[in-house]
Amino acid sequence: MAKRENTFLVKKFEIIIKTLHGLEEVLAQEVKEKFGERAEKLTILKRAISVEGDKKLLYEANLHLRTAIKVLIPILDFRAKTEAELYKSVQRIDWSKYLTFKDTLSVDGVVNSQYFNHSGYVALKAKDAIVDQFRKNSGIRPSVNTTDPTVRVNIHISEDSGTISLDSSDEPLYKRGYRVDTISAPLNEVLAAGMIQLSGWNRESTFIDAMCGSGTLPIEAAMLCANIPPNFYRKEFGFQRWKDFDNLFWAEIIEDAKRSIEKNKSFPQILGVDVSRKSFRKTIENSHHAFLREMITAKVCAFEEFEPPYASSGATLIINPPYGERLKKEDIENFYGMIGNRLKHHFSGYNVWILSGNFEAIKKIGLRPCKKYSLYNGSIECKFLGFSMYDGSRKQKDISDF
Ligand SMILES: C[S@@+](CC[C@H](N)C(=O)[O-])C[C@H]1O[C@@H](n2cnc3c(N)ncnc32)[C@H](O)[C@@H]1O
Repeated sequence: MAKRENTFLVKKFEIIIKTLHGLEEVLAQEVKEKFGERAEKLTILKRAISVEGDKKLLYEANLHLRTAIKVLIPILDFRAKTEAELYKSVQRIDWSKYLTFKDTLSVDGVVNSQYFNHSGYVALKAKDAIVDQFRKNSGIRPSVNTTDPTVRVNIHISEDSGTISLDSSDEPLYKRGYRVDTISAPLNEVLAAGMIQLSGWNRESTFIDAMCGSGTLPIEAAMLCANIPPNFYRKEFGFQRWKDFDNLFWAEIIEDAKRSIEKNKSFPQILGVDVSRKSFRKTIENSHHAFLREMITAKVCAFEEFEPPYASSGATLIINPPYGERLKKEDIENFYGMIGNRLKHHFSGYNVWILSGNFEAIKKIGLRPCKKYSLYNGSIECKFLGFSMYDGSRKQKDISDF
């Protein structure tokens, strides 16, 4: 046992951890805090970071990193401008190291290239190259299973340079497993976790989402506060189906995670408020499913009438208001004007953050942000603006430059 663990832990390899646009620094910070020097050669990439680590780090990254979307192990870098070159490159890998003909396989393609313009086609060609290798060597080929494969392969091509990786997460990591019900425009869980970390909330003072929809922000805030790993309730990760999966070792990681969950500290007030009764019910149901029901207070109230609790130092409000796709321009601008007025008169002492994809409406808030980030909510480009509601910031200011 000891011998196995040694060889298991010592071997280091490159790991690519994918995230959303604008959250790269947050992810890097999470990696530093969680793994310290165990994560070597940390490099920030576009919508990803790269580190060197061992299998323990790979498993833990899937479980613990709140802003990670996928954890990949790159196994080959290649250059290709044609389908034939792509096929040849994929066959340079000895695939019998990773799966047998009895296993199943799925290939995902991500392509940004003048030479290859269809990611589905690239994935199909790569899959053919893998199964042909098996057929040639043993006469039998693994079958394809796009939902539950033994091994999910990721092929990424940018112009003529490509990378083939094993996808240790399989389903993206925002599928935490706690959400049973959503409203029509819920935030991606990874985006919500990233927004909370960007807001600088200290995890000890009041946290409010006053337009909480299905409760994503309060749930992510409560998990952060109680140190519950974001994917603690997920049923399975890709690496658990791999040949080299070490069940005992994984059980130890889960036990460590359980031990570090905070059960006895006094938690701050975490409030999810929404004008809609349907959203209120979804917030209750989802927080119940995340075993966080007692940490989150849900309430039905219109923002127009909501009186927040007294702001202790660090009290934070984050809202993701409607962007107004289905409303008249005038109505949505009045709505944002109302938000600004409420903030000025009722949220003294709060750190306020607003995520919105309606850049014209944001100006109607009439406050100057002290911080701003560019994020994407799905395909919608958004601004995530921070306002400190101390007395000096209440004056109406021109924010046309935002
Ligand atoms: C974009 S959704 C928020 C989604 C949420 N962040 C989630 O992850 O599910 C906007 C929410 O604002 C709520 N809302 C709209 N007008 C409101 C108002 N006047 N007061 C409070 N909530 C409001 C809607 O009911 C909706 O749930």
